[in-house]
Amino acid sequence: MSFYFGVDYYPEHWPQERWETDAVLMEQLGIQVVRMGEFSWTKMEPKEGEFHFEWLDQAINTLAAHGIQTVLGTPTAAPPAWMVRQDPDILPVDSHGLRREFGGRHHDCQSNHHYRQHIRRLVTAMAARFGHHPHVVGWQVDNELGNSHGDFCYCPHCEAAFRRWLQQKYGSIEELNRAWGTAFWSQEYSDFHQIISPKVTPNGHNPSQMLDWKRFCSDLVADFMRFQVHILRQYCDPRQFITHNCMGFADKVSYFELGKDLDFLSHDQYPGGYFAQPPHQPNQRLAAELDFIRGCKGKNFWIMEQQAGITGWECMGRNPAPGQLGLWTAQSVAHGADTVVYFRWRSCLFGTEQYWHGILPHSGKPGRTYQELKEVIAALRPYMEETQGITTPAQVGIVYSYDQNYAMQIQPHNPKLTYLGQVMKYYTALYRANVPVDFLSDQGDFSKYKLLIAPLQYLTNPELEEKYRNYVAQGGHLVLTMRTGVKDDTNLCHPHTLPGGLSDVLGIEVPEYDCLWETSLPVQWDGELFSGEQWCDLLAPSTAKTLAVAAGEWYAGTPVITCNRFGQGQAWYVGTEPDEELMNKLMSELLRAADVSSLGEAPEGVELACRKGRERNYLFVLNHTETPQTVALGREWESREVSLPPYGFAVVGSAGEELE
Ligand code: GAL
Ligand code: ZN
Repeated sequence: MSFYFGVDYYPEHWPQERWETDAVLMEQLGIQVVRMGEFSWTKMEPKEGEFHFEWLDQAINTLAAHGIQTVLGTPTAAPPAWMVRQDPDILPVDSHGLRREFGGRHHDCQSNHHYRQHIRRLVTAMAARFGHHPHVVGWQVDNELGNSHGDFCYCPHCEAAFRRWLQQKYGSIEELNRAWGTAFWSQEYSDFHQIISPKVTPNGHNPSQMLDWKRFCSDLVADFMRFQVHILRQYCDPRQFITHNCMGFADKVSYFELGKDLDFLSHDQYPGGYFAQPPHQPNQRLAAELDFIRGCKGKNFWIMEQQAGITGWECMGRNPAPGQLGLWTAQSVAHGADTVVYFRWRSCLFGTEQYWHGILPHSGKPGRTYQELKEVIAALRPYMEETQGITTPAQVGIVYSYDQNYAMQIQPHNPKLTYLGQVMKYYTALYRANVPVDFLSDQGDFSKYKLLIAPLQYLTNPELEEKYRNYVAQGGHLVLTMRTGVKDDTNLCHPHTLPGGLSDVLGIEVPEYDCLWETSLPVQWDGELFSGEQWCDLLAPSTAKTLAVAAGEWYAGTPVITCNRFGQGQAWYVGTEPDEELMNKLMSELLRAADVSSLGEAPEGVELACRKGRERNYLFVLNHTETPQTVALGREWESREVSLPPYGFAVVGSAGEELE
């Protein structure tokens, strides 16, 4: 069975007499699936070993009578009060060594074995009760793993787990000392037991230790999820899927890793964000997060929480204008969502999220949002039926690496320089050019892409260099950027002339560089002046052709952007972060050289995206502006023009010929 639309439902927040009314209203809206249970541990197990699933069973059956199936969440993001008082070591410890208390959520240590025992008991009981339930179609493990875990957990259990992780990785303490460069500041260890989690110090940290710590934290969260996945796989009908709701570019845990153990990934999409910042998150950022989640498993995904009203806890965001919720839904579908589940069904009367609004207002009476989404659901459903399960290929790939991100977080060079910021610069130029993009990890298949962009490949090793070399040699078009090849995998500087092993592929060396802190660099290309930001690598070409040079500072005239032919392909080196105009010029050069096609031209603020269907392709035309827009389309589409109201969208089928 296929699902297209759902809602996040909390029957435990409402009197049971209301459930039937909710089910009827959901059915009339076109809802086929709900997610439930992911925060209701105390309702399921009010005392250790005493399970109460009757209420959940009744809720599932009430909905099923209206054709609505259930996805169950394991409620492990909110352990009950009785449990944390009994085993207070479940509570996480922050980098100052302080225990965080009960009273919110995510008050758990992921390595704590008491906590794991409680989880095993509960998840086993849930699986025994619902693992073969005819109306439970799948599971969500925990909720937004890594959310609120930025500064967790430094407790003794996690410290011990970190030591085991290090021992496994390095084998001996001598090897760890070498890999971490502990000769600096007398940090040598003579025994693994001397190593602690990197809590706050009086002054500085070892960058190699910090990188391993971030990797360990990611691995721990993945292990925490896998622990539950194994229990569910052991007891549940294999027809029940297992997924997890991710948060776009949140970086506590690698979603590439989570994806390996799940049937598909899910994502939570809140264009309004948490803040009252008008109007909402940038459109390209929303699109990028959707593309990223699709890329993490190379597969379409579910939106497990799609914004359904004003967002906010203490402060509130803007009220979505008429059309906007539908537009954001269409954007999610356009980038690969096979199912969209709205958060939440009804605004809650109590708790932290009283103002995180649902489809129904506090009163429970259907209003503007309900009517609007009813139309959106009816309009999108036929296209979702046609495209379900089919991934749409892209010609451009952006390599995304959690490790590079971590390493740049530890030493950003320029406080304004971020890995994600640079990734988004490239993505934004492609987005503006209406060119579809895939994200992939550096373990992914490069050969699928005509153009491969790998920003800030700061950490390199011979295998990675070899992969890039082969890609270019065999005809690929590769873009590498500043700070490529600076460090090895353990965050030690390579003892080579930059960029190291890729010098011949790029046809350059980087003998010097400059940090553009509080300044930017005039850059000249074809007689035009642009600007470079954050950083500048001063390039010495060997075989590369110079495209742009510094036009200021004592190094005026020095190449900063180059292109080199290598084997059958070409490799560009971009030694600075281009400003918008420079990026646009660079991108049009790259797209032309790699012969990448665009979906067409659209007015500012109108997004084009494509989904491949069984019979034909579908172009999603998304008007993110508050004014009406008319968009002319190419011959390959069945309409040559679409007119859109403010925040309107249209879906247009292909005229017959398949797009590449
Ligand atoms: C998500 C979370 C939901 C809910 C929502 C609104 O991050 O998964 O449980 O908290 O945000 O805050
Ligand atoms: Zn811990």
